[in-house]
Amino acid sequence: MIISGKELSARLKEDMRGEVSTFPEKYGRVPHLVVILVGDDSASASYVKGKAKASEFVGIRNTTVHRPATIPEEELLDLIRSLNADDTVDGILVQLPLPDHISEARVIETISKEKDVDGFHPLNVAALWQKQPCTLPCTPKGIIKMLKFAGVEIKGKRAVVIGRSNIVGLPVAKLLLDENATVTIAHSRTGNLPSVTREADILVVAIGKPRFVTADMVSDGAVVIDVGVNRDPETGKLCGDVDFDAVASKASVITPVPGGVGPMTICCLMENTIECFLRKVAR
Ligand code: GUN
Repeated sequence: MIISGKELSARLKEDMRGEVSTFPEKYGRVPHLVVILVGDDSASASYVKGKAKASEFVGIRNTTVHRPATIPEEELLDLIRSLNADDTVDGILVQLPLPDHISEARVIETISKEKDVDGFHPLNVAALWQKQPCTLPCTPKGIIKMLKFAGVEIKGKRAVVIGRSNIVGLPVAKLLLDENATVTIAHSRTGNLPSVTREADILVVAIGKPRFVTADMVSDGAVVIDVGVNRDPETGKLCGDVDFDAVASKASVITPVPGGVGPMTICCLMENTIECFLRKVAR
């Protein structure tokens, strides 16, 4: 079974579109998301475009702010501070990665927690790990939604996450733990990785290496979630971290790339923007 993140996200965005259409009457306006793109990296530019397109569909106002890669850090931080102070802005997202001269940590901590639609702010991360109400990071949130949509029981299962980034690996491991899975976090330095991944009922791969997970690393009937977005070194096409064709014949459930986790990330960004908006207008 292939989980189509594209199909699920289309359904959820349709629902959100209906919800947002009631906002002008209820609250006098629609949510407003500001996305900041620094530099001209083509992958980042394409993600930012996807976010604008989804916003347009859902009925969320989107402003994309493009700044050159040479922007001084302080100028970027000032831009964020002015958006924090702007009452017409509900969500702020700075597309990562950033040029080397800009500290991602400083950028993330400068975005106000209330407008942090990515769920990356240290206070949001702390709230997540302390089981307090928070904005959930988009990709991990989308993965849990996909598993539930596919009818995968998480409770009591052994989950292995390959990757320990702040954006995906660590928070998805925490969300799986909160769903009562028993979680192992593996990474590029894990010894005898196949022996670890073969124990997984649910395998989440976020390591950023094309076709890293081969069929021998997956047990029969496992659920495989591929978070990778890579260029195939041979064909130049988009591919995941999982050798899809080989692994699909062993897995009971698998996500494709493209059309799997990616659309769910954007869908959850829309949801987070609506949540930030509602918290604000309900105050
Ligand atoms: N770069 C890759 N994924 C993400 C994401 O979820 N949010 C932001 N801001 N940048 C990213």
